[in-house]
Formats: sequence, C-alpha cells, structure tokens
Amino acid sequence: MSSAEQEKVSDLKDKISKLKQEKNAVIFAHYYTRPEIQEIADFIGDSLALAQQATRVQADILVMCGVHFMGETMKILCPDKKVLVPDMNAGCSLADSCKAEDLAAFKAQHPDHMVVSYVNTTADVKALTDVVVTSSNAKKIIDQLPKDAKIIFGPDHNLGSYINSVTGRDMLLWNGACHVHSRFSLEALLQLKKENPGVEVLAHPECKAPILAQSDVIGSTQALLQHTIRSSAKRFIIATESGILFEMQRACPDKEFIPVPPEVTEGVGCSCNECEYMRMNTLDKVYACLLHESPEMHVDPAVAARAVSSIQRMLSMS
Ligand code: 13P
Ligand code: SF4
Repeated sequence: MSSAEQEKVSDLKDKISKLKQEKNAVIFAHYYTRPEIQEIADFIGDSLALAQQATRVQADILVMCGVHFMGETMKILCPDKKVLVPDMNAGCSLADSCKAEDLAAFKAQHPDHMVVSYVNTTADVKALTDVVVTSSNAKKIIDQLPKDAKIIFGPDHNLGSYINSVTGRDMLLWNGACHVHSRFSLEALLQLKKENPGVEVLAHPECKAPILAQSDVIGSTQALLQHTIRSSAKRFIIATESGILFEMQRACPDKEFIPVPPEVTEGVGCSCNECEYMRMNTLDKVYACLLHESPEMHVDPAVAARAVSSIQRMLSMS
C-alpha cells in the first residue's frame, strides 16, 4: 500500500471511530471480511457468535459487516435497534439457493417433517423454519431433536450430508451450496498433503464430501480458529474462505496457514477462495453508512415475528 493509501485508511478509521462514539454504535464483522474491516470491528465472529453478541450489546446502532442474511438476523433479534449494513447487495449464493416459495411447496409435500434451516437463509425462509442452526451448533441441536423426528434440512447439501453422517440421521436434504466452499480443488488438496506430510487439514463443513474426507478437523470458522490457537502444531492446511487467515495469523503469529486453492474453471468466476459478497464491505462504505445512517435493514414485522422463534429456539438449544 502506498503512503497516500495508508493515510486514507488511517483517516477513515479515525472518522469511523469518532462517529461510532458520537452515535453510540457498535460494529460487528464476520471473519470473512477484509482485514481492515476486522481491524475496526468491536466484535468479530462466526454467524452464531455474531447473533449471540447482538442480543447482549447496549447500543443505539448496530453495523453488520457481513452479508445480507446476517443483517436480517440481527434486525430480527434486535427490532428496537437501528441495524445498518454497509452494502445491501452483499448477498449469499447459499441463501439464494433456497427461495421461500420453493421451500413452502416442499414442506407441503412432506407435511410430517419439521424444518431445520442453516442460518444462511432469508428471513422468509426462517419464517417457515422450526429451528435454525449454524455450522457451530448444527450437530448439538440435531442431537436434541426426538430420535424419530422426520427432518427437512436446508439449504446446504454438503453440511446436511456431513451432519447426517455424524448424527446417524437421515434428514431430507435441500440441494443448495455455497459457491466458495464447493469449489475447493481435491487435486490441489491431495498435492498439498503430499508436499506437507503430517500437516493437519482444517475444513468448513460447507465443503464437498471428498474434501471433508481428506480433512482432520471439520468445523465452523470459530471452531477452526480455536483449533489453530489451542493446537501445538505450527502449520495447517485450510479449506475455507481465506478471510479467516487474517484472524488465524493475528492470533498465532508464529504459525503458518496454507490455503487450499479452488478448482480452476476457465473463463468465468473468481479463481480465488474469497467470498466476493463479504468483500463488498469496505471502509468507505462503513463510514458512509454510519454518517448517513443508511442503508438500514428492515424486516417485515409479520415475517420477523415468525422468524424470531426459530432463531430464539436455536439460541436456547446452543
Ligand atoms: P459460519 O457459521 O462458520 O460463520 O459460516 C457462515 C458462512 O457464511 C460460511 O460460508
Ligand atoms: Fe454465503 Fe458462501 Fe459467502 Fe458464506 S462464503 S456468505 S455461504 S456465499
């Protein structure tokens, strides 16, 4: 970064910090956001930690630097607070893979099934859901459901298959996926393992089954981070969105993290393991949204009233 750019970044950080104080605002950031966003955040976490923390803070304004469904979840849990999101276009391919009307039709075909939805869903989908889960608590929550419960699980097929395998359930799985986690290259991972014998592979459960089969630790972003902090190992191979490497490196400066690259698909798409939606959060946009108190997240109160119980159920079972 040139010195002019450095000056601009530090000036923006100062302005954001002043506005935060003036407006009694708190900034939340997911681990997949840009390093400079994580640096200015009051709370950094995975989707479960962010939702839990939102219910505990005393503030007038909550700024959610993540993706759209995270802002929605925050607004549903904190209806009396002003929830700002730096960019309303920061979506999620996984949430997009399950439309509420399609889920409603699927539910109608399986009236004896309850619905367990991953937190990466719209408020409309959460309103059709019995209990929400995140990758941190999915196993724990499914284990608490009656053994004979018939369950629809969505939208992430990879996470659902993994949870079926570790719980012995036979949940009916929605066929959704995250475009970042489903494109890691198995060939590249096998090559990395060969070049780095004995080095543990850490993967997020949204990765495809062949990647998970080659992994030593499977967990949410938070769980993977905690593992790198607690482990005495010095090197790790990481199969998840690369934003987490910033926090891993910050927490463990003496350790080395080797990211698994994605499959190379010719022509289209990003050839990196970054979520472009998460990267839409920039310092300029955080500053602008605090200054103008816009864009503000709104959730239809009727939808929020139905969605909140499935999220509250998750928080009480976590
Ligand atoms: P976490 O629940 O681990 O935060 O994951 C959320 C997400 O969007 C993963 O792609
Ligand atoms: Fe959604 Fe995937 Fe981005 Fe997570 S990494 S926010 S699941 S698109």
